[in-house]
Amino acid sequence: MSVHISAKKGEIAKTVLMPGDPLRAKYIADNYLTDSKLVSKTRNIFFYTGFYKGKEITVGASGMGFPSIGIYSFELFTEYEVDTIIRIGTCGAYTTDLKLFDILNVENAASESTYAKFAWGIEEDAISNQGSAFEKINETAKELNLTVKATNIHSSDIFYRKDPAVPEIAVKHDCPAVEMEAFALFANAKHLRKNAATILTVSDIIPTHEQISADEREMALRKMMELSLETAIKF
Ligand code: HPA
Repeated sequence: MSVHISAKKGEIAKTVLMPGDPLRAKYIADNYLTDSKLVSKTRNIFFYTGFYKGKEITVGASGMGFPSIGIYSFELFTEYEVDTIIRIGTCGAYTTDLKLFDILNVENAASESTYAKFAWGIEEDAISNQGSAFEKINETAKELNLTVKATNIHSSDIFYRKDPAVPEIAVKHDCPAVEMEAFALFANAKHLRKNAATILTVSDIIPTHEQISADEREMALRKMMELSLETAIKF
């Protein structure tokens, strides 16, 4: 057990897939894993461990934002000896150059957040993905004939804001989209020398207010789920 995860030592696999939403973790476990077991449900943040094509994998939720993914990823890396975390989430596009359902593989996460500075003394405002997961995702996407764009992402603390302009940090680092977790995940992995990647599906186009509907969401996210599972078996 760790402070926020009730799984026993040994009940979490070396590779963890991490959607934001606990019910999405359940969906992946129910639809893709065999012999899956619910190993933690503290705060309804579900973690399931099972097998995909014979490889042991854990799927568990991060919750929303840096504090939440910061806690779960740190405890997974330090108390459960997890080597690799692949976040699978959604993002909002700042530009109509991106389309709904596009899949992104995050190269660098840029943020105004002081999380990395105050947690680990990391002063940079952009942190790259860590280790080999990013490359493995690109390779796997090619094998699956899936178009995946390598891109920088704005990791923000803010979902609602008064100013509709694209934030300065996103302009500075050429980030076409925004989410709320990759920067903290990459910071923890960098400090702890672990693997971390983030795959995102574009769920909304901010300037036009287009959105993937609730009905479309499940199917839309399946491609990203399959990409992450096929990548996970390569570790
Ligand atoms: N902002 C931040 N995070 C997001 C968004 C957004 O518009 N869409 C999906 N995740």
